[in-house]
Amino acid sequence: MRKPIIAGNWKMNKTPAEAAALVSELKPLVADAACDVVVCTPAVNFAAVSELIAGTNIALGSQNMHWEEKGAFTGELSASMLKASGVTYVILGHSERRQYFAETDETVNRKTLAAVKAGLIPIVCVGELKEQRLAGYTDALVTYQTLIALSGLTPEQVADVVIAYEPVWAIGTGLTATDEQANETIGVIRQAVRSVYGEAADKIRIQYGGSMNPKNAHGLMKQPEIDGGLIGGASLTAADFAKVVHFEKAPA
Ligand code: PGA
Repeated sequence: MRKPIIAGNWKMNKTPAEAAALVSELKPLVADAACDVVVCTPAVNFAAVSELIAGTNIALGSQNMHWEEKGAFTGELSASMLKASGVTYVILGHSERRQYFAETDETVNRKTLAAVKAGLIPIVCVGELKEQRLAGYTDALVTYQTLIALSGLTPEQVADVVIAYEPVWAIGTGLTATDEQANETIGVIRQAVRSVYGEAADKIRIQYGGSMNPKNAHGLMKQPEIDGGLIGGASLTAADFAKVVHFEKAPA
């Protein structure tokens, strides 16, 4: 049985004071969550957030990292820096990083290997553009992105990774993949993992992301292949994010 994982991706939002206010409000609302709960904040908030979540069921996540351990990489953060700041999860290869910051499948792979080596849990993002879906390339693309990202890991390591399937056309647009579309593509990703890593495919958790919110989370999470969500906009208010965390309750 895979434990569901709901992660908030705050993107470039929230100052330390705002982050502290959001997490303080969130803590009691998700204290009884049946799933893993993660907040991926901008790095300037790590100190404030890690202090507030100590001893709670909320884990801290980063939105990026560099693959090198240290050196002349101005503006970058290493896996060991994240680890020492209380970070447990790190989002890698988000489509916004691929689109605006020249992230490639190869750099995502390097980062994934470095994260695992440092004891961080990567949340590796894959997903197709609208034109790629319309042209029928979705399955081939997510298979390729997934297998390149994981290349070099052992099956045991792959079992602990999290993949986020995020159709790019559904991110921040209010358009969601249908429950069936999301389930089907996540099934394709799981099959790709199985083809190389065998039974690790039954353990690896694969989230859906893209305009997931309190209204659609229940239906998406009922799908057998969907193990969680990566939540952007709806993670910026405690009440909405808590409702997604409690996806088992039908929307009011
Ligand atoms: P969204 O973002 O929920 O605002 O669509 C999801 C993401 O980009 O991770």
